[in-house]
Amino acid sequence: TRPLKVALLGCGVVGSEVARIMTTHADDLAARIGAPVELAGIAVRRPGRVREGVPAKLVTTDAMALVKREDIDVVVEVIGGIEPARTLITTAFDHGASVVSANKALVAQDGAALHAAAERRRADLYYEAAVAGAIPLVRPLRESLAGDKVNRVLGIVNGTTNFILDRMDGSGAGYSEALDEATALGYAEADPTADVEGFDAAAKAAILAGIAFHTRVTLDDVHREGITEVTAADIASAKRMGCTVKLLAICERAADGRSVTARVHPAMIPLSHPLASVREAYNAVFVEAEAAGQLMFYGPGAGGSPTASAVLGDLVAACRNKLAGATGPGESAYSRLPVSPMGDVITRY
Ligand code: HSE
Repeated sequence: TRPLKVALLGCGVVGSEVARIMTTHADDLAARIGAPVELAGIAVRRPGRVREGVPAKLVTTDAMALVKREDIDVVVEVIGGIEPARTLITTAFDHGASVVSANKALVAQDGAALHAAAERRRADLYYEAAVAGAIPLVRPLRESLAGDKVNRVLGIVNGTTNFILDRMDGSGAGYSEALDEATALGYAEADPTADVEGFDAAAKAAILAGIAFHTRVTLDDVHREGITEVTAADIASAKRMGCTVKLLAICERAADGRSVTARVHPAMIPLSHPLASVREAYNAVFVEAEAAGQLMFYGPGAGGSPTASAVLGDLVAACRNKLAGATGPGESAYSRLPVSPMGDVITRY
């Protein structure tokens, strides 16, 4: 069988781990896919910064030339941000490749257009790694629960803010003190805005709501409130009521089933609720479905290895489909339930 060729866009914390696992687990991956899978090129912005162990001969700064190569079967995009990721992905589709992406901002903004571009070329677009790192959520919602009716998806989908709130709760630390600790430990970015203002969680909520309710929800549809206004006094008063404070993403079907809402905001959680015990940078998501009942997904929602695990799962799926001449679920699986403005914000669960 001919080897499947993979182009890797980005070689930071996640990309270098993807390259490492592809190399060290090559035999296992080949067995699971049914053909060898070969890393054919790695596009980076600064070749001087490429981590140890990454094969130097595969590194290029010309990402566009790499995605235009007709021999590439799957492009893995772990650059993040809207551009140049969007142009590179659509170019990859135009040249017949499938795409695995970890890019929550891009999928939340342009998921519909990207899926449509993939479908035109009978290619795949997979993005398990865009939501909650290693925790399987996209595939369970798109595939395992496709025959059920999901009514609610609710949980903690941002590790940085959970770490900050957990520290504030545990030690009585103020917001900025806890943020400094999150930065020192490498959880928060140098610019933590996307995390602490809730943009990261809102992008994940948009993706989850779209898949759970078979519609299209974009970042702009999501009501968003971050944690920058949460004070030590708020946490202390929540404690007196037997609660803790968590940043929740909540995606719901309206009671009449005719529209959906998605929102992100801090909420008080009773200490007896399983979400209250989600510590440090972990994520946890509840899915409530009519036949399945309540499911809980829990695990590491960020970091190089966990995110690479999700990328590799998608890579195996995309490679299997390539060999079979098939595609995974695409844009036509969406029925376009309207997204309504937010209803009442319930700040206590
Ligand atoms: N900044 C994100 C988080 C990383 O803290 O959860 C994973 O998307």
